[in-house]
Amino acid sequence: MDNNNYIPALRFNWLTKLYNPLVAFTMPEAKFKKALIEQAHIEPNHRVLDFGVGTATLSLMIKDTNPLSEVNGVDVDEKILTIAEKKIKKAKAKIFITKYDGVKLPYADISFDRVLTSLVFHHLTAEQKHNSLKEIKRVLKPNGELHIADWGKASSVLMRSLFFFVQLLDGFKTTNDNVKGLLPAYIENAGFKKVEVKKNYSTIFGTLTLYKALN
Ligand SMILES: C[S@@+](CC[C@H](N)C(=O)[O-])C[C@H]1O[C@@H](n2cnc3c(N)ncnc32)[C@H](O)[C@@H]1O
Repeated sequence: MDNNNYIPALRFNWLTKLYNPLVAFTMPEAKFKKALIEQAHIEPNHRVLDFGVGTATLSLMIKDTNPLSEVNGVDVDEKILTIAEKKIKKAKAKIFITKYDGVKLPYADISFDRVLTSLVFHHLTAEQKHNSLKEIKRVLKPNGELHIADWGKASSVLMRSLFFFVQLLDGFKTTNDNVKGLLPAYIENAGFKKVEVKKNYSTIFGTLTLYKALN
């Protein structure tokens, strides 16, 4: 995979600048990101990675609630990282942002205590999901934790129907396995232990799920 082989935050590059207001308006964004951070139990000395950092909303929340942790964000999309850098500068926060090729994370083995990621995995093909999880596992320390927020198994027929709109926008190929509830199987196949569904949110776009797994 190279830099051109990814789905931008809102499917089309020209929509990227609308990503922040749209998510904040249509989703319980602050609520589920806060819950994801809470379940991660980040400690002051922890080194944390926000995988698919996007516009850095989650990273800024992590740094705000855990000022003594080291927060790093990685993404494949240069355009969205420009927005992230501006937001980080405005907030006067110290967050390390890195662009990568979508294949190999630019970090050493066994170097993070926590990896958090929000709304990224439904942008990845089956192969990319698997490779990304293997890479995340590689950079996590033993007993390090992975915390994922993403579209999960639809909790009702209504939730399944609403998710159709996400699939129209983001494509069926990358989203089907999410709504079938297959993310836990992917996480286990990558070698993680104790894979858990921690929470489900019913949203106007379907069921959003928080997962936890142990390296
Ligand atoms: C819907 S946005 C979510 C952004 C942010 N995590 C949030 O919750 O607001 C999906 C993000 O995943 C990124 N992405 C796509 N493919 C990726 C990959 N292979 N590795 C890391 N990030 C990727 C996109 O560039 C985009 O920033």
